[in-house]
Amino acid sequence: MKIDGVHYRSIWRDAGGEVRIIDQRWLPHELRIVALRTLQDFARAISEMWVRGAPLIGATAAWGVALRMQEDPSDQALADARARLLATRPTAINLRWALDRMHAALAPLPAARRAEAAAAEAAAICDEDVEINRRIGEHGLALLREASARKGGGRVNVLTHCNAGWIATVDWGTATSPIYQAVEAGMDVHVFVDETRPRNQGAQLTAWELASHGVSHELVVDNAGGHLMQRGEVDLVIVGTDRVTARGDVCNKIGTYLKALAARANGVPFHVALPSPTIDWTATDGLSEIPIEERDPREVTHVQGLDPEGRIVQVRICPEATGARNPAFDVTPAELVSGLITERGLCAATPEAMRALFPDLAGG
Ligand code: MRU
Repeated sequence: MKIDGVHYRSIWRDAGGEVRIIDQRWLPHELRIVALRTLQDFARAISEMWVRGAPLIGATAAWGVALRMQEDPSDQALADARARLLATRPTAINLRWALDRMHAALAPLPAARRAEAAAAEAAAICDEDVEINRRIGEHGLALLREASARKGGGRVNVLTHCNAGWIATVDWGTATSPIYQAVEAGMDVHVFVDETRPRNQGAQLTAWELASHGVSHELVVDNAGGHLMQRGEVDLVIVGTDRVTARGDVCNKIGTYLKALAARANGVPFHVALPSPTIDWTATDGLSEIPIEERDPREVTHVQGLDPEGRIVQVRICPEATGARNPAFDVTPAELVSGLITERGLCAATPEAMRALFPDLAGG
């Protein structure tokens, strides 16, 4: 997407062959771009959330393997890079998907051919991600048009949680792609942006994206969604996801489940923008089979911002003696999901509908 007239992706290889990312820790205050030069840089960028969002985590891991293959294309280096990157974050399935794909492409090759093949595969993963998200936008746009038609052509109010925007993917975003395409098509769309404690991806990232692209939006605290839905102020909810099981259970940023419950109670459609690499075909029961990342309790006991000198600072908001739990994701059972927006079209969150849309991926 364009920022001040310049088209960016969230990760790219520059003319000199270096892999660059937008370091998201500094947004919305600064568009800071950094090069990742060692396997350790790539692992750190994922685990410390310089990059985040399921598709971007996968793309970053793919480039991490490619970098390592330039240094050492041996079997041992390939296996070690995979293990190191896989250990960075547990929940988003895109990480394992991208690493498995890199391994499948590289392992059969002689070592001398791996560096070039790895760069080509990582670039293909990124290009495919852009196209997948563009198509999710096209299919999601139909939903927004329907919502507008139901209101006789008026403004469509969408509520979203966390950041499933272009900087959570390589470009376009998943949940935001229909919104960007609707705005480009001249539709009147307004977005309620959940702040998304504890790390505030909504406030810091989604709001930054929407503001940069001139999309009408308002930031709301995480607890406002139910109130807005009760009052009829939300026409539909669209969220992203980190892993969807073969039966349609949706794992996403903590708090998504509560939004789905509120949506169901108030008759508001709850849709999930789902690129196919985010489907875990090996998992059926989301509650028992998806590992939920538990992050540093400091993210809960403190809030983060910039001091007047532009340094990141954390300020405690509870007593010193108070500890915290920090589960980073939750699971919304398929029954609460109105529909999935995939690159191949809309589908119900049921095993039958998912298998019918992706017979080539679903396996036996
Ligand atoms: O912890 P994060 O910021 O990586 O969590 C991101 C989310 O939960 C997103 O909603 C999800 O990855 C979908 S991104 C298109």
